[in-house]
Amino acid sequence: MSELVIKNLHVEVASKEILKGVDLSLKEGETLALLGPNGHGKSTLLAAIMGNPAYKVTEGSILLDGDDVLKMSVDARSKAGVFLAMQYPSEIPGLNSADFLKAAMNAHREKPMSLFEFYASLQTAYKAMGIPFEMSKRNLNEGFSGGEKKRNEMLQMKLLKPKFAMLDEIDSGLDVDAMVVVAKAIEEEQKRGAGFLVVSHYARLYNMIKPTRAAVLINGRIAVNGGVELIEKIDTEGYEWIKRDLGIEVEKETDVPMNTVSIGACATRIAVNDKK
Ligand SMILES: Nc1ncnc2c1ncn2[C@@H]1O[C@H](COP(=O)(O)OP(=O)(O)OP(=O)(O)O)[C@@H](O)[C@H]1O
Ligand SMILES: [Mg+2]
Repeated sequence: MSELVIKNLHVEVASKEILKGVDLSLKEGETLALLGPNGHGKSTLLAAIMGNPAYKVTEGSILLDGDDVLKMSVDARSKAGVFLAMQYPSEIPGLNSADFLKAAMNAHREKPMSLFEFYASLQTAYKAMGIPFEMSKRNLNEGFSGGEKKRNEMLQMKLLKPKFAMLDEIDSGLDVDAMVVVAKAIEEEQKRGAGFLVVSHYARLYNMIKPTRAAVLINGRIAVNGGVELIEKIDTEGYEWIKRDLGIEVEKETDVPMNTVSIGACATRIAVNDKK
């Protein structure tokens, strides 16, 4: 059985240390719920596991069945079976969705798929995720609604069939029906034996996908490991009790730097450049 083992992981973003010694492991077949206050490093952890170069690992290790993940390119990590559904999927103008999916699927195989095989699996996946097939002709995520982007991330998961899927706030922006569709897709992969690392702030999705255990990331470290009862407790009581019970000082969101790029900033930059 495959296992992803993270030990004493320290990660820097924009020259600031965000993760300060994360210890976490995930076996195939497990679903780990990862919770934690805003800005404490959940997305940073997932980005570092996937190999985003903006997230610099300064100490610690990530091993997949004993192999050093930190030495692998993003592409090699994906081929090894690691998948990330991003919190904010990027819009890629000029990259056709179907072309992207074909390239991603073929990269995971020895021989390229036949066009017939590819379109058959594509149609099945679009149907399962409740996305109109016409959307496969559009550029990746370009102009997609929030919920469409999230469904599209899950579509990639269905097609790539990873060993370990990391889902970063996959439930944000989903309407109630879409949540059911996404939960069903996760359940199918759980039955196949995939391991899941699922980040969400709410009990709703977790109630549908039934995690095997839960962990809480605070101040760049795993502060609590436990059973699923943690989810309900956080959903109703927030994070104050952790501070109280464990004597941990929870940093306020204002204590940590905010993301430096916002859509507003981009729009302003474009408007300013247009005027030049
Ligand atoms: N590319 C970046 N540039 C600058 N700062 C960043 C970058 N990515 C993350 N950070 C900062 O690192 C900290 C941790 O961010 P991260 O996105 O990991 O938090 P999170 O736990 O996922 O929060 P949320 O629950 O709000 O999604 C934040 O202070 C954030 O502003
Ligand atoms: Mg996040």
